[in-house]
Amino acid sequence: MTKNHRLDLLQPYPFEKMRSLFAACEANQAKDFINLSIGEPKHSPPEFIVSALADPKTLAQCLNQYPATQGSDALREAISQWLDGRFDVKVSADTQILPVNGTREALFAFAQAMLGDAADGLVGMPNPFYQIYEGAALLAGATPYFFNHEPAFQYGIDFDSVPASVWQGMDMMYICSPANPTGNLLDQTALQDLIRKAHDYDFIIAADECYAEIYFSDAEKPTSLLAASAAMGATDFSRCAVFHSLSKRSNLPGLRSGFVAGDATLMQRFLKYRTYHGCALGAHHQLASTLAWQDESHVSASRQLYRDKFTSISSVLAPHFALHQPAGGFYHWLKTPVSDTLFAQQLLNEENIKVVPGSYLARGTGQANGGLVDASGDYNPGANHVRVAWVAQPAQCLEAATRLASFASRHA
Ligand SMILES: Cc1ncc(COP(=O)(O)O)c(C=O)c1O
Repeated sequence: MTKNHRLDLLQPYPFEKMRSLFAACEANQAKDFINLSIGEPKHSPPEFIVSALADPKTLAQCLNQYPATQGSDALREAISQWLDGRFDVKVSADTQILPVNGTREALFAFAQAMLGDAADGLVGMPNPFYQIYEGAALLAGATPYFFNHEPAFQYGIDFDSVPASVWQGMDMMYICSPANPTGNLLDQTALQDLIRKAHDYDFIIAADECYAEIYFSDAEKPTSLLAASAAMGATDFSRCAVFHSLSKRSNLPGLRSGFVAGDATLMQRFLKYRTYHGCALGAHHQLASTLAWQDESHVSASRQLYRDKFTSISSVLAPHFALHQPAGGFYHWLKTPVSDTLFAQQLLNEENIKVVPGSYLARGTGQANGGLVDASGDYNPGANHVRVAWVAQPAQCLEAATRLASFASRHA
């Protein structure tokens, strides 16, 4: 039968684990169900994108052609201009940008293309994390190495404590800023330290920046790995690749559109891989994506909506939780007074609200540290935390926050 034994290494996705966890629950049907577990943007998609996609004449033309894997010149040019406007970096539309079907697809495929069969190599990734990084590493034959977001380190990652032997074994590392789920940012200094390590120890950095447009203070705007690289003189972005998406920025998760940009050598090899893989973005999606990258007004309107929601939600939650406010993204990473799985079950039973248990978004690491243990007794930086996605419309988010607050006060 199938000879790909690496498939057996893949962990069930958090939502699969949640189905089993919640199977035994009796959700309180007296209250409307509110789902705070999925990071699926629910603000309205821009009207002009919906119209562009629905135009019959353009659609007929687009559906009548095989799209180019490299994407249209217009799309790559629009992305290049957006990168310049947003991060003040000059990125070549010809050699340093590739459109992709959303960052998930690209983050996964990038490891397959870059690592080949790196059975003895390490792929670094944050912990807790977006699980695609781990699956990508395992299917490429590499070993995941987890960089913990430590509660005791303001939920940041202490890269300085990582031993040289680990850096020596590293073939690639994923970083995520703003981070899902903690909302932490990597600033320019942290990014430049990592770029220096990438050169010293010969590895690639894959920076997931898909939440870069959702931030809460103009004074603390997320920067990009490419900007950090250019600011230290490496305008060729050597060893660096960034991943961006229209899913969160433009509320278009169904369009499946994003891009990867950076080191021309990496992009050229990734293009070669993608040509065979057959994952070109449909021409009508390329057209709509071009328009989306060219417009900022819908992005700032959506960002403002998140800011307003977080202000009202936070004032409701603050008396009941030690709130760690995200710098970016749309999640609260809430510390729970009991185990995260029990908290999630009780919240569903009593308030008909679903959140993600933090230990499902992280891996146990075997290290004794900080008293956060998951169901198997292993240290897990996601234990005793839940992820709350504030993606719904403001009224529903406020209703959910009010129920969370009364739940917390009953269980205090
Ligand atoms: C950290 C992170 N990266 C990547 C993605 C994938 O987004 P998309 O494929 O829609 O661009 C998500 C989606 O939730 C995410 O949370």
